[in-house]
Amino acid sequence: MSNANLLTDNPDLYEARFPDPRRLAGRWAEDCLRRHDAGQRVLDMGCGTGRDAAHLHGVGRAVTGADLSEAMLAYARTRYPGPEYVRADLHGFDLGQDAFDAVVCLDSSLLYCHTNDQLDGFLASCRQGLAPGGLLVAEMRNGAYFLGRTDLLDTPTVNGFTWQGTAYRSTTTLTVDRTAQLLRRTRVWTSDDGLPPVEQRSAWRLLFPQELRYVLAAHGFEVLELHDGPGPRTEPPWAEGELPGRTADADRLHVVARLSTSH
Ligand SMILES: C[S@@+](CC[C@H](N)C(=O)[O-])C[C@H]1O[C@@H](n2cnc3c(N)ncnc32)[C@H](O)[C@@H]1O
Repeated sequence: MSNANLLTDNPDLYEARFPDPRRLAGRWAEDCLRRHDAGQRVLDMGCGTGRDAAHLHGVGRAVTGADLSEAMLAYARTRYPGPEYVRADLHGFDLGQDAFDAVVCLDSSLLYCHTNDQLDGFLASCRQGLAPGGLLVAEMRNGAYFLGRTDLLDTPTVNGFTWQGTAYRSTTTLTVDRTAQLLRRTRVWTSDDGLPPVEQRSAWRLLFPQELRYVLAAHGFEVLELHDGPGPRTEPPWAEGELPGRTADADRLHVVARLSTSH
């Protein structure tokens, strides 16, 4: 069994598997930026295929999309031109001091900070890259969802879809690694084109709402919003004009935080 990263190596397939035809994620991010009067310069960290960066560019922002995957960046430059795309590691990056008015980090990219050192590295880099009063807008899984709930862990999820004439089937298993405080995912892809199955392993930090609040404060950020929805990946999803909720119980977590003006 090959263990290539089928999704980040195939950005087209990523978009086919996780479509966002109404650009909900980009629109939700823009709504947060506007509600808190963010300036124009935005860094989309973990930008993936570039679709959210392009949406923000389309509404008039000066956007830089950053990702670790060269395949994603190459795709973004071709498919979603407009933003500047650069390779950077969210665990520690330097794209210029005070270069941005906001950092957005969508679809759990922030949870690729597995360790406390990586989380500190990310927030220290944001602090350095943001102008005083700059915003951090992030959307991710909610670690607290797994406290007392096993519905996402009990049975593998099977998904099937057809892409470029080939039928794919993915079987996804989630497990909780309590020692590392990680949600580990194993996804096995099979296809009807005769190729051997591909196994992809991934993990996200299980970050809890109060832990996030604590680490943001330690890095000089004031939390303006911290809630479980509505958001672009909640059920039902966020709709234009809806305001943030007050609970942090469901499976997605949304945070908007402002860097202090005297950092
Ligand atoms: C789940 S995708 C989200 C992509 C995009 N933000 C979206 O919402 O469609 C996560 C992205 O994070 C990127 N990534 C993973 N680890 C990273 C790291 N250490 N630094 C920067 N990007 C990283 C992956 O290459 C991938 O494009």
